[in-house]
Amino acid sequence: MREDFFTLRTVMWDKGKVRMIDQTVLPQRLVYKDYDTWEGVADAIRRMVVRGAPAIGVAAAMGVAVAAQSSKADDKEGLLKDISRAAAGLRATRPTAVNLFWGIDRVVAAARSARGGVDKMVRTVISTAVEMAEEDVETNRRLGKVGEPLIEDGDVVMTQCNAGALATVGYGTALGVIRAAAEAGKCVKVIVNETRPALQGARLTAFELVRDGFHCTLISDTAVGYMMSSGRVDKVIVGADRITKDGHVFNKIGTYQVAVLANRHGVPFYAAAPYSTFDMRRTHDKVVIEERAAEEVFQVRGKRITPKGIAIANPAFDDTPPELISAIVSDKGLIGRPVEDNISSVIR
Ligand code: MRU
Repeated sequence: MREDFFTLRTVMWDKGKVRMIDQTVLPQRLVYKDYDTWEGVADAIRRMVVRGAPAIGVAAAMGVAVAAQSSKADDKEGLLKDISRAAAGLRATRPTAVNLFWGIDRVVAAARSARGGVDKMVRTVISTAVEMAEEDVETNRRLGKVGEPLIEDGDVVMTQCNAGALATVGYGTALGVIRAAAEAGKCVKVIVNETRPALQGARLTAFELVRDGFHCTLISDTAVGYMMSSGRVDKVIVGADRITKDGHVFNKIGTYQVAVLANRHGVPFYAAAPYSTFDMRRTHDKVVIEERAAEEVFQVRGKRITPKGIAIANPAFDDTPPELISAIVSDKGLIGRPVEDNISSVIR
């Protein structure tokens, strides 16, 4: 059994600052950036210095913590005002991943219920955010154990985007299941979809998996159908940014077409997500899909590849309906088909 899987932490609290791996420069450079204002953290989330649903949830909670720490308020009411302002700014960064809102709500609730004075309230906000980072890794390890039996020795597993250690605080969700299968002694090969336009597959998933010594093969997004029709994919496993109560999985753009193709070719399609990704208050029609800057599409790594004047659409996420999903892996247990009916008995 391997015990040395990707031990880097994506987001951490370090001497009063939020320290995060700068994912915009991976895989060429592995550098950390420190933030001591909530505005800085919000900008990092928007620009995808930190990205991935669980990672942005923890980063945003820590963003509220730096706001609390640097507040000049001398009473609880004033401090709560500063916290609420930071929370509103952080909420406005990215609309789709529900973990962002979950993370912010949790630290704001901790602040509201803190007993004692201003100092106690600040300490409570910081310790709640730090606890969330620790919990994230434990949750992913539990989720990995739940999903590991789905993977057989010798499987070739396809994944979209990056749902790994870099998308969480550590270990990962979809890649957590793959890591858990390898820890259980199974040989797993991974097909990594490049995931245009931000290339999370080519840059980040490839970085993690190569570093961990997995056999992995990068393909262009356009090769997904052929890889399946030629029998080269045994399973698909992806992460999620939001799973609604009616069993729809919102994940990185391209996930839906991978699911349709998997269904066409009889390849099991799994999504893996912690409880913080489930939105048991909304149905799929209420979810906002983030539309990102046109530059991400008309440029490749800063260089224009299209003629000027072309219209661009850049939706960052899509919606995979429950009929295309074989099962959802959560830290609370496996949600089998029909996922839309079984979800509420597992996520409570
Ligand atoms: O735009 P991103 O890179 O933040 O999108 C990330 C994804 O879509 C991941 O698949 C998802 O957050 C799951 S992360 C465990």
